[in-house]
Amino acid sequence: MTRVETSSLPTIDIEALGFDAGAHLLVRHALAALPEGESLRVTGRAPGWQAQLADWCRVQGHTLSWPSLPLPLGEGGGEGTQAVDEAPTPIALIAPGTAESGRWRDAAHTGHADLRAEGGVLPHAPAHWGLAARGARVEAGSPDIAFRLDRKEELWAENAAELYAQAVGAQWDPEAALDWDVTFTHPPEVEAAIRQVMTYMVENENAALLVPARFLGQIHPHYRELQAALAIQVADEARHIEVFTRRIRLGGGEPALSTAGGQASLKSLLDEPDFSVAGFLLSVLGEGTFVNLLQFLAAHAPDPLTRQIAKLAARDEARHVALGMSHLLYRLQQDPALRGRLARAVEARHDSLAGTAGLNEEVFDALVLIGAGELTPQAVASGFAKVQQLMREMADGRFTRLLRLGFDRTEAERLSALHTRNFM
Ligand SMILES: [Fe+2]
Ligand SMILES: [Fe+2]
Repeated sequence: MTRVETSSLPTIDIEALGFDAGAHLLVRHALAALPEGESLRVTGRAPGWQAQLADWCRVQGHTLSWPSLPLPLGEGGGEGTQAVDEAPTPIALIAPGTAESGRWRDAAHTGHADLRAEGGVLPHAPAHWGLAARGARVEAGSPDIAFRLDRKEELWAENAAELYAQAVGAQWDPEAALDWDVTFTHPPEVEAAIRQVMTYMVENENAALLVPARFLGQIHPHYRELQAALAIQVADEARHIEVFTRRIRLGGGEPALSTAGGQASLKSLLDEPDFSVAGFLLSVLGEGTFVNLLQFLAAHAPDPLTRQIAKLAARDEARHVALGMSHLLYRLQQDPALRGRLARAVEARHDSLAGTAGLNEEVFDALVLIGAGELTPQAVASGFAKVQQLMREMADGRFTRLLRLGFDRTEAERLSALHTRNFM
């Protein structure tokens, strides 16, 4: 009979707790607390616990043995040893498996939870990582979940985490951040102009919500910082749609006109299948232009509520532009040829929209009227000049961002001018 000295080893008594009632938790934690290289003694008295322990160890990849019996007293044994002849309590001895044994043998390593850690965000995230937390070990046999955007180079933005954190801190509650209890003193025609501009903006916000939302469902969750930044961008747009709609209703009215040209311009954004090209058209060119429009309203809208709405929305949009820019700067670094494809996308969009009116006349006139504040020749002349100035600022802004993306001055000027007349 082999005799094995086990009494000085760490020991756990699972008492009457069975493996069908959670005994494995005690054993697992005791194993985790073992000093390197040591084994664990387990004893218990639940009916059938030995067989259950054997099953559990096999699945977990631990080696289980049943040292026949402890040494009798006086033969080198320490405290707690028993004589062979006494009725023994069965004692199991578990030699822990390694991380590579048992059911985790072929588990996949999925980078690192921490973005900045060595090997944090990896260049490719395979389908078999599925929905696992980045950094988790994924059991072999987990289902493949295919994400179309699964390569860092095609979606990443270096400051996605910072922009997400900024966005979380900058979220505003429309109820608390805005004073809805406002009395309008402006003329009804200016109120109608506000209603028209807000109607147009809701339509644009719908596109600005849907474009990132569609890509969001295609991005591998490994790239969670980018996923989060896009998700909160979508939430921003939902809030914009809400407040613009509430502003329309506060004047007592209904939304005004939606034009074929405006919708055609926005549809061309929805139809763009490439993440980078869509981000370029939507965020860098469209939302960038929209920031100017919102700043115009923040300066010239007739009531403090509308001015405050525009100010808050402009701040959100500036973040959306920053995310788009960050992604494009990253991607252009990897793939300078993308610059040519971006230029062609602007040209193609311009050509496809050439037959449409672009910005609807109603919106243009509404902006003039908002800039004017009243219907007198002098006021309209002043409103008209303000809108001309707005257009120049919009074009300059696009030009500057195109330069930052590495387009030369002539090309930046040309592409800025080819941007849709719908602004977005
Ligand atoms: Fe928005
Ligand atoms: Fe936006």
